[in-house]
Amino acid sequence: MPSYILAIDQGTTSSRAILFDRQGQVVSVAQQEFPQHFPNDGWIEHNPENIWDTVIATCRDVIAKTGIDIQDIAGVGITNQRETTIVWDRQTGKPLYNAIVWQDRRTSQLCESLRDEGHTEAVQASTGLLIDPYFSATKIAWILDNVDGARERAERGELAFGTVDSFLIWRLTNGQHHVTDATNASRTALFNIHEQQWDEALLALFRIPASLLPEVKDSSDDFGSIAKEWLGAELPIAGVAGDQQAALFGQACFTPGMGKSTYGTGCFMIVNTGDEPATSRNRLLTTIGYRLNGKPTYAMEGSIFVAGATVQWLRDGLNLFADAAETEALARETRSGHSVYLVPAFTGLGAPHWDPKARGAIFGLTRDTGIAEIVAAGLQAVCYQTRDLQHCMNDDMAATPGKLRVDGGMVKNSWVMQFLADMLGVEVDRPAVLETTALGVAYLAGLRLGWYANLEEIQGLWRCESSFTPKMDEATREDLYQGWLDAVARVKSN
Ligand code: G3P
Repeated sequence: MPSYILAIDQGTTSSRAILFDRQGQVVSVAQQEFPQHFPNDGWIEHNPENIWDTVIATCRDVIAKTGIDIQDIAGVGITNQRETTIVWDRQTGKPLYNAIVWQDRRTSQLCESLRDEGHTEAVQASTGLLIDPYFSATKIAWILDNVDGARERAERGELAFGTVDSFLIWRLTNGQHHVTDATNASRTALFNIHEQQWDEALLALFRIPASLLPEVKDSSDDFGSIAKEWLGAELPIAGVAGDQQAALFGQACFTPGMGKSTYGTGCFMIVNTGDEPATSRNRLLTTIGYRLNGKPTYAMEGSIFVAGATVQWLRDGLNLFADAAETEALARETRSGHSVYLVPAFTGLGAPHWDPKARGAIFGLTRDTGIAEIVAAGLQAVCYQTRDLQHCMNDDMAATPGKLRVDGGMVKNSWVMQFLADMLGVEVDRPAVLETTALGVAYLAGLRLGWYANLEEIQGLWRCESSFTPKMDEATREDLYQGWLDAVARVKSN
């Protein structure tokens, strides 16, 4: 009987392949970073061939280094950076243009016009999203309008659109399957999350031909099989979810009110709202948490565009340290209550501001400010932004989780986790398995493949590694947070 599930985690800065056993334990990991392209102010692109090559290489690598027989893999789950948009030729499988990454702001002007024309309510009512360059719809329109002949070719049905999951499945199945799952579809701004289908009115609004779109499946479903030539045997793809929803699943947040925050390139706080989509008054998003047996479980999401990316910038852009692991010791050197605030609005601000024109800044520098204070301010910004989201969720749902489950690379830093608990005033739980994104999609595949009977069984596998309880007094917390609000007000464009 096969012992492993292979999870592909195609993220914003790297591709990873992880083997899990039936208990949800990590057996082995392979990872490769790939180049980011910044062709213009606020533009971010990936070469889809780099995405593809690193996915194949890491899958082969993790299998080879574990020394297992390919027959020992029961199936595959795929999780991915969401919203990132690829349009390719159905005949050749070749992309027409680079992948336009979720952080890319090139369609700000178009979004502004659509908002000015009064389409916000209609888009929110159908998709749960706002009109923002973040989502796929305007990115697809940009490709159709800016690549020679693309719109005509799309009208003739020669092209396909997909988020990264869809593109990978197309390639892995040698063009046999043009599919996605409901969580990824829910991030395009073209999918009606109530009716669970592509929305014709929105396709007309964004000028997207329906022939471009993939079939939308459950998150635990039959997505076709990987052709033998890629990994040496046919393997069923049985689970797919956008990375943030996969993390919600990997954190076993199956009950309404349970939530998690993932600190990867960006930070995404998602709370399960159950069978009913909850509408935000505070510009948070309503999204699909997962869809099983045709039944969607909804979630509310706060999206922050830059979290771990700040650490990457401090390391690679400013050369303040050589390894992210050094940031904890640096932050511990600072006195609490230092005056420096770093607002990492490199690509505008996400929830709850949705200000694509805002740009980053550092405030409060004094003669004794050093590397440690700037690094600490970068880390604290992530916590302050999580508190921004917590406020909105509190207001929208009249309650937020009394405990927050956290994951992603940054949560290894215990100084950040303590500051997060202090800033939120709630317990922060770090799980034993930090690869929750990949784990979530391994669970989704495992459900389909009969490894797990139900969600309770998966819930029973969740383990806490450390809990951080708030220690800061109320006055200090409010004082520090007020400083953050003042700093954000100074970078906003409106
Ligand atoms: O919505 C964007 C998100 O899916 C990207 O996730 O892990 O690359 O920060 P990550």
